[in-house]
Amino acid sequence: MSHPSHRSHWNSRWTFMLATAGSAIGLGNIWKLPYMIGVNGGSAFVLVFVACIFLVGIPLMMTEILLGRRAQKNPLDGMQALAIEAKRSTAWKYLGGMGMLTGLLILSFYSVIGGWVLAYIIEAARGSFSQITATQSTANFDALLASPLQLLGWHTLFMFMTMSVVAHGVNSGLEKANNILIPSLFAILLILLGYSMSVGDMHAAFQFMFKPDFSKIKPVAVLSALGHAFFSLSLGMGAVMVYGSYLQRNVSIARTTIYIALADTMLGLLVGLAIYSLVFANHLAPNAGPGLIFQTLPIAFGHMPAGGFIGMLFFILVAFAAWTSSISLVEPAIAWIVENTKIKRHTAAWAIGLVVWILGTAVVLSFNEWKAIKIVFGLNIFETLDKLTSTILLPLGGLLMAIFAGYFMNKHHAQEELDLNDQHFKLWRFTNNYIAPIAIGAVFLYLFGLVK
Ligand code: PHE
Repeated sequence: MSHPSHRSHWNSRWTFMLATAGSAIGLGNIWKLPYMIGVNGGSAFVLVFVACIFLVGIPLMMTEILLGRRAQKNPLDGMQALAIEAKRSTAWKYLGGMGMLTGLLILSFYSVIGGWVLAYIIEAARGSFSQITATQSTANFDALLASPLQLLGWHTLFMFMTMSVVAHGVNSGLEKANNILIPSLFAILLILLGYSMSVGDMHAAFQFMFKPDFSKIKPVAVLSALGHAFFSLSLGMGAVMVYGSYLQRNVSIARTTIYIALADTMLGLLVGLAIYSLVFANHLAPNAGPGLIFQTLPIAFGHMPAGGFIGMLFFILVAFAAWTSSISLVEPAIAWIVENTKIKRHTAAWAIGLVVWILGTAVVLSFNEWKAIKIVFGLNIFETLDKLTSTILLPLGGLLMAIFAGYFMNKHHAQEELDLNDQHFKLWRFTNNYIAPIAIGAVFLYLFGLVK
């Protein structure tokens, strides 16, 4: 397929890797994975999650990058171009469209949680964590949730940060900042982990997260683990596809994918360990839900030397991680608008930003004023958006991409993009064509009550 020269490309493999890692590493690792481990019964969830990353996540990340690089377009036009190349129905473009919408739905709550992180930078800087007790920490977090105005202010700031970068285009500064930010995030996590190990109950945390107990594996946990594998690696909605479309030809997709997936998974598990050793040492509930890190980490920062400063640094890095992810949530939609209409990039960015911001205000209210309003299955607005995107839309998007790449696309085209030796190509094809679709399909059948 031709490579239009006006499309910007990443400066090097390293930049692509950092951008994709920047998309993958975010609130999913630091905020969501830890609390989901607790809510879904600990080790059982961890085991299934890691299996999903290896058996489904890694192959499908390769699939998504290869589709993007071959198409050289935004997800919607890209799927259409690929379908035409393969002489298939152009209805495949709706798969790209679905991904773009999914990204916007995710951003509506992602931005609200990103706002909590911003609020905690200030809390840390003000010294609010100093000598804090578990009860006080929980009360502080509850007070933040109870204030729609504060939440709205932080959500607005986070959306503003995201959209001002998107308005300028993906090749600009922030991606380069990842060069320092991601390694720094790892470094500060190691400090946190060291501290948790010395004062927390690392043994209990290990047992809770890694001691295999197959009896605890519940179908719902499998569903959440699969969904979170997609969320955590930014798969199934075209983010990775768009980044892949800016990728040069001479870069190995497989190697890049494996590095990113390993870094992403390790980071999440490290945060989990640090948090659970604090949870058990302080007799907190492991299943506290979305507030977990905001309730536990201040206790650690509040008691370690220079904790106010380290805490501030930690939340700043988390905010950056969330920022680079949120950009990738809107980039597919913006790329589509810019490549199809006369609308300028910055106009598109601010208009889409406004729509997402409005939806986000409903999410804000679902933590306080509208808490009692249930949308479906007893879930409030935030929970509905989260479950709808993570457990349905992302895996569905991934399933369809796998089917397209495995059964509709010309096999040689896939091989050309992946550029693997025969054995490795066969391995990718086996996981992409059989393992991933069967795993996702089985989970869906269960979800829709077709099998028990
Ligand atoms: N992977 C990001 C995170 O873990 C979230 C994300 C999901 C980003 C889907 C893009 C697409 O925080």
